[in-house]
Amino acid sequence: MTDIWSSRADAFRESPTHREGPDLDLLVEMCEPAPGVKALDVATGGGHVARRLRDEGCTVVTVDPAPGMQPDVVARAEDLPFEDGSFDVVACRIAPHHFRDIERAVAEMARVAQRLVVIEDNLFVDDEVEEAERLRDPTHVRCYSEDEWKRLLTDAGLEVERAERLERRRDVDDWLARVETPEPDAARVKELLGGRIGDGTMTFPSIVIRARQSQR
Ligand SMILES: C[S@@+](CC[C@H](N)C(=O)[O-])C[C@H]1O[C@@H](n2cnc3c(N)ncnc32)[C@H](O)[C@@H]1O
Repeated sequence: MTDIWSSRADAFRESPTHREGPDLDLLVEMCEPAPGVKALDVATGGGHVARRLRDEGCTVVTVDPAPGMQPDVVARAEDLPFEDGSFDVVACRIAPHHFRDIERAVAEMARVAQRLVVIEDNLFVDDEVEEAERLRDPTHVRCYSEDEWKRLLTDAGLEVERAERLERRRDVDDWLARVETPEPDAARVKELLGGRIGDGTMTFPSIVIRARQSQR
């Protein structure tokens, strides 16, 4: 792959949106972390989920296709190189909207999870926001609605047991700068988002959703 994500590694390690936040707290809580729990952090990016789960005593393996993110294992979510049921919990935060084949990625996460799959991602808003997201960052594939998430997880053989919606507030210029959106695309993104931007910031809805392995 052309490794655009490796070149973004420092920006994503340092980004306040990624380093912390109520969504990260809730995802960690939903993972039911404890000493001895074996966890997989899919699309680890700057490693923030892994760090928080390790703080709780979990043994964590990180996976990401970008070598610059320095994961333990370089691989896509669609092709996880692990045996069935290798991890108690599989977590994935702010990343599935980049996956080329979401059904396959969710099926892979379900396959390697012994107990839980916990996902956090931006929710689908409308086609205009999707267009703005793709223009801002061409690696954006699509965000999904709560119903789509429930279907994806259920189709992978999991039982959805908890879903919480949150709002993430972003500074629009920081959000564009993080992925170096060139002008005039940045101007067009702002135009598309229009009235949703106030005081240079915008709120994006997100979901944290937990599904349990019912087949093991
Ligand atoms: C926004 S960052 C991840 C943020 C991180 N999970 C966190 O909580 O801060 C998105 C990550 O998805 C990874 N990625 C892109 N396509 C992927 C795929 N098909 N499978 C797994 N990871 C992918 C990128 O390399 C990048 O590290």
